[in-house]
Amino acid sequence: MDDKTGDKEGITRRGFLGMASLWAVILSSLTLLAGIFRMSKADVYYEKSRRFKIGRPENFPVGTVKKLDDKRVFIFSDNDGLYAVSSVCTHLGCIVNAVDWGFQCPCHGSKFNRDGRVISGPAPRNLPWFKISRHVDGSLVVDAGREIRTGTKFRV
Ligand code: FES
Repeated sequence: MDDKTGDKEGITRRGFLGMASLWAVILSSLTLLAGIFRMSKADVYYEKSRRFKIGRPENFPVGTVKKLDDKRVFIFSDNDGLYAVSSVCTHLGCIVNAVDWGFQCPCHGSKFNRDGRVISGPAPRNLPWFKISRHVDGSLVVDAGREIRTGTKFRV
């Protein structure tokens, strides 16, 4: 049996299969190397910092509540200090409103007391409190990525 394709100037079947095999080995080796290179890099996604400044302590006189809509947090100030409570409902993420007795969610009616503890659902968890600290320039910093125990206040 003749393994030529019939064209004397063309490539032979054996030659074609040899080239195809060579390219298959080259491509699979490159794919393997790319996979090894990709595996050597960790899948780490850096989250944007959730710390933000809220101004100087003088901006929060005792007895006041400020809702920072863009930061989704309430800042309370009482005789024991300052504290930051999330305004994001723990049910489906609506923004709660401050009312006389605590917080109420406008979406599905969850109620939270003044400390952010759930009074009635469907919210499954209390509103988290966030850590407050002081920056070197004297302003206050809220870290919305760091929950603290309910009732922990920052003494000014
Ligand atoms: S989102 Fe608040 S109760 Fe559903």
